[in-house]
Amino acid sequence: MDLTLKIWRQKNTSSAGKMVDYKVTGISGDMSFLEMIDVLNNDLVEKGEDPVAFDHDCREGICGMCSMYINGEAHGPDRGVTTCQLHMRKFKNGDTIYIEPFRAKAFPVIKDLVVDRGAFDRIMAAGGFVSVNTSGNTMDANALPIPKDDADEAFDAATCIGCGACVATCKNASAMLFVSAKVSQLALLPQGKVEAERRVLSMVEQMDKEGFGNCTNTGACEVECPKGISLTNIARMNREYLKASLTYSEK
Ligand code: SF4
Ligand code: FES
Repeated sequence: MDLTLKIWRQKNTSSAGKMVDYKVTGISGDMSFLEMIDVLNNDLVEKGEDPVAFDHDCREGICGMCSMYINGEAHGPDRGVTTCQLHMRKFKNGDTIYIEPFRAKAFPVIKDLVVDRGAFDRIMAAGGFVSVNTSGNTMDANALPIPKDDADEAFDAATCIGCGACVATCKNASAMLFVSAKVSQLALLPQGKVEAERRVLSMVEQMDKEGFGNCTNTGACEVECPKGISLTNIARMNREYLKASLTYSEK
């Protein structure tokens, strides 16, 4: 396949960016989207030009790093996959492909397609954990029976990889799908219930501080989420938040 790429190039956070045209040739349908960008970058390096900066790590749909907008969709035209799992067979010879970074006020562009998603880390640090007594008398996790339905729901929520596609897709740049998945995976399990009230209050407070927008129930996040995280998690987080705001007091 021979393709035209229109890629967002931006030197750093403070500089103005613009779309730049590139041609790539001899692209196989079996390549992943990132391998196609590797081909372009090899060409650019050989010509002494600056390669396109993009985030990636696992290249198997686990780490959530490979965040980019492809033809106006987070992670591109396929469903239930990340950019690294997107195959070039989804495109046709002669296609023009638009490639942009995830855009949201809380995700500033660092360079080209790389954005700073540190806001997600700060939300997790605000409460996305279970405090464990490591005295040596810690109970074995398997000793605590958990209803199968709760375990399944918690597991589904835990599949969120923190990629940020929900934020980039949402017209309000809301992080509610991400935060609700993280709140839910712990709120559903007995180990997470102990700190559930403090957790939901601090994670939501941090989410607001970071400048994410609110949820207006459009549902685009659920459609574009590569892990199929359900909107029911947002409803659960709203219930948890309301309950905690009425009953929680700092000890
Ligand atoms: S909820 Fe989905 S889209 Fe949002 S960060 Fe998690 S995996 Fe990515
Ligand atoms: S590179 Fe890890 S999910 Fe794509």
